[in-house]
Amino acid sequence: KKTSNQLLVIFGASGDLTARKLVPSLFNLYLARQLPENFVVLGASRSDMTDKEFRNKVVLESKYLKPRLEDLKENYIQGFSDKFFYEDLGGAYDTDYSRLRKRVEDLNNKYKTEGNIIYYLSTPPTLYETIAKNLADAGLNTQNNGWKRLIVEKPFGYSLETAKALNTGLQKYFTEPQIYRIDHYLGKETVQNLLVTRFANTIFEPLWNRNYIHHVEITNAESVGVEKRGGYYDKSGALRDMFQNHLLQIVSLIVMEPPIGDQPEEIRNEKVKALKSLRIMTDAQELHDNTIRAQYMASTINGEKVKGYREEDGVDSDSTTETYAAIKFFVDNWRWKDVPFYVRTAKRMPTKVTEVVIHFKSPHHHIFQDSGINNKDNKLVIRIQPDEGILMKFGVKVPGQGFKVERANLDFYYSSLAQTHVMEAYERLLLDCMQGDATLYARADEVEAAWEFVDPILEYWKNGKDVRMYGYAAGVWGPENADELIDGIGYWRNPGS
Ligand code: BG6
Repeated sequence: KKTSNQLLVIFGASGDLTARKLVPSLFNLYLARQLPENFVVLGASRSDMTDKEFRNKVVLESKYLKPRLEDLKENYIQGFSDKFFYEDLGGAYDTDYSRLRKRVEDLNNKYKTEGNIIYYLSTPPTLYETIAKNLADAGLNTQNNGWKRLIVEKPFGYSLETAKALNTGLQKYFTEPQIYRIDHYLGKETVQNLLVTRFANTIFEPLWNRNYIHHVEITNAESVGVEKRGGYYDKSGALRDMFQNHLLQIVSLIVMEPPIGDQPEEIRNEKVKALKSLRIMTDAQELHDNTIRAQYMASTINGEKVKGYREEDGVDSDSTTETYAAIKFFVDNWRWKDVPFYVRTAKRMPTKVTEVVIHFKSPHHHIFQDSGINNKDNKLVIRIQPDEGILMKFGVKVPGQGFKVERANLDFYYSSLAQTHVMEAYERLLLDCMQGDATLYARADEVEAAWEFVDPILEYWKNGKDVRMYGYAAGVWGPENADELIDGIGYWRNPGS
């Protein structure tokens, strides 16, 4: 695909995301010669910085980039850093953007970016609408001279109501096709591969339904705690931070019906339908029985003492924000009726891993009674990260007399593919937006459908009567009580343990 000449304006350019993710992604695109010929970046934020200081901060002296620059030729590095410019917004985002407009026009004329602009919002979310409005007031949203696109970082809303308000707010100034809501999980190759696994093969799809699938399990574990983000996290929690967005995106790709083609709206229409078919839990008993929340407690991991969640900086000492969430739910449609889904996400787990496990039903009639190991659990394990790959578990005969069955693995690792460059999530997503492809971005109705499912759980956890909050020692697989959720159905698969 062709990438037209363009200008990228980053709001919140002095923040961590710009240096940690955005600029390294642009650098990868630069190395891969994927940036358009005429391309410049204008950082904008409230800090006072010159162009030179900005280049030093995000490129030349950046701890995320510096080690990678060492072996490169000086003029090559300069070719990259010369693309960066900075505009101080004078201490406020809510201000007159006419100076910004002047700067944009100057850059556009000088570097021939043809009036095409991406605005990347990487500020606190409370500023998204303000920035969109000020851009519009300055005439910076008009598309009569080059296209304009708006990338919005997460979190997208805090609840269904706030997400709706944000959608309406942004849509006053930018049309829906101009708005790109980022969910970096959609930028992961393995997440996209869910579509290919299902719809580019004939061997899985015939089994991909209630007739053959017993239950679906998704685990998203991180070994880190809340790190330096206690202040943000305490107002968010696992359900808002991971489940509403990243995990429900994965769920939608597993649940969706085959799209008629690979065009953005064809795929996104099916995802919305999938999210709308999740059974919304409203009854207190149902919410009590199907949701588990917990917080990590102080512990010693590999001889190192780690703090409990409530002792972390920025976290209330009597906080009821969850760092672990496990949800059981059903999907009310023809394909999935009565198949339980178990999804959990947490910080301070024994390892960092994300995987989807499709558990198939056991054979209707067991003929190998003495099989020793039961072969009832045919599983397809899709490893999103790390060790990206797909693992199929099935029964094979143990050589020798009788019919002893043992479990065997068919294992595919992405790393075994030829030396292809696997794009990082942000790199891929940025390039897609540069090319005007919104397939891997969340649409307004998609985000709202996800909130619709999550809202009653949050409400129950906040205001329900006697809602349980469990603790788990940092470094274990969550509270034991989470087993109750899946009891009688199976057990949580704890990868690597
Ligand atoms: C972010 C969350 O969206 O995703 C973080 O805010 C989390 O809390 C991160 O650590 C996980 O992303 P990844 O790509 O490392 O799985």
